[in-house]
Amino acid sequence: MVDGSLENGGEVEILLEKFDPTAVVAEPLPPVVTSNDKANDREIVLGRNVHTTCLTVTEPDVDDEFTGDKDAYMASVLARYRKTLLERTKCHLGYPYNLDFDYGALAQLQHFSINNLGDPFIESNYGVHSRQFEVGVLDWFARLWEIERSEYWGYITNCGTEGNLHGILVGREVFPDGILYASQESHYSVFKAARMYRMECVKVGTLVSGEIDCADFKVKLLANKDKPAIINVNIGTTVKGAVDDLDLVIQTLEENGFNHDRFYIHCDGALFGLMMPFVKRAPKVTFKKPIGSVSVSGHKFVGCPMPCGVQITRLEHINALSRNVEYLASRDATIMGSRNGHAPIFLWYTLNKKGYKGFQKEVQKCLRNAHYLKGRLHAAGISAMLNELSSTVVFERPLDEEFVRRWQLACQGNIAHVVVMPNVTIEKLDDFLNELVEKRLSWYQDGEVKPPCIAADIGSEGCHCTLHK
Ligand SMILES: Cc1ncc(COP(=O)(O)O)c(C=O)c1O
Repeated sequence: MVDGSLENGGEVEILLEKFDPTAVVAEPLPPVVTSNDKANDREIVLGRNVHTTCLTVTEPDVDDEFTGDKDAYMASVLARYRKTLLERTKCHLGYPYNLDFDYGALAQLQHFSINNLGDPFIESNYGVHSRQFEVGVLDWFARLWEIERSEYWGYITNCGTEGNLHGILVGREVFPDGILYASQESHYSVFKAARMYRMECVKVGTLVSGEIDCADFKVKLLANKDKPAIINVNIGTTVKGAVDDLDLVIQTLEENGFNHDRFYIHCDGALFGLMMPFVKRAPKVTFKKPIGSVSVSGHKFVGCPMPCGVQITRLEHINALSRNVEYLASRDATIMGSRNGHAPIFLWYTLNKKGYKGFQKEVQKCLRNAHYLKGRLHAAGISAMLNELSSTVVFERPLDEEFVRRWQLACQGNIAHVVVMPNVTIEKLDDFLNELVEKRLSWYQDGEVKPPCIAADIGSEGCHCTLHK
């Protein structure tokens, strides 16, 4: 190109304005996008439309710093929000979160951007990390699940879902042509993994308890004998808290020609992964058995202000998945890139305070309180079920959605559940039960509407509907 003309004869526009590399756009405020088209309105199918209650982000006024108005406004919003959180925390029963914890000692760390990006065992060049806590926590879980330090690999995840995504991915890397088997009551993240990884996935039937039906598992295995099996085993299903019989799953595999080099088991212990080891009669989750990985949520039974989880697998499996990343000076074998470096410190703090013995006591308390709840529901003539290894009490769905929302119950079809976590006391259960019993009188008083029959969900023994009582 010579003097503004291109070699092929075309002209280029000569920039008269001097190029200023620090110049920014004149108006940074983007226009609000509006549409008159009613068809574009967001249709809310489940839950509530948060757009009706959202807290709009507003531009600061030029004199805000001087007047302090904006700071005062934000402080009042936060104070109100804190009050709501306190109230909502008091009235929560439906989700498996232990809301009872005190991490005041860790407030001093809020000023740091702690990030464990990369492999927990290979320090990256980013120095503001908490790997020393992370590996300490992983060692604790490795001991719980009986695998030697030199033989495991793991990391602190963002949640139980990430543990499932990772465990199933490891399974697929070990057996690229493997078929994923999961009971129909598995968490939705398992089926999401199958879609994400485009894996063939076979749903296995369940018993009325919610446990995997190994007779059906056998039929499905035999129909796909030529392909290795990747199995998701539930250590506590989401809705009924059912614990799959790990030993029977392994036995079914072995008896049907699947040797240890032709299957991979991921144990989804998101819910009860930390409870089962302390229950005497529970099938033992241990790496002494031919399992490939175990994951658990950190914010559930442990209790943590942010979602997190733990994933442990065998070191021998992880190489297939890892890549060295020069930019990190570490290795990439996790699902996410940046990783929350605060979460391992919270877990480390609680594990230190409670120890294995402390958790065992809490498990005992939860199981006892869950039995209390089921007993009182039955005594009040309300259909209910409690799996023997579980603290999830399933019962008839309350008629009134306002009541469901007030107690933050999780519902599916005609059933609802309460997950008895360490923060759920007998007093709280009594308050809930008294209110439920009183409300039911008004819901069903004229006899026109009847409590639902939930025998199909929980079996006829636990069902107290007009037909089964
Ligand atoms: C059995 C099971 N697996 C996985 C998950 C997902 O865990 P998270 O919510 O921590 O992603 C849940 C959540 O409740 C669960 O119940």
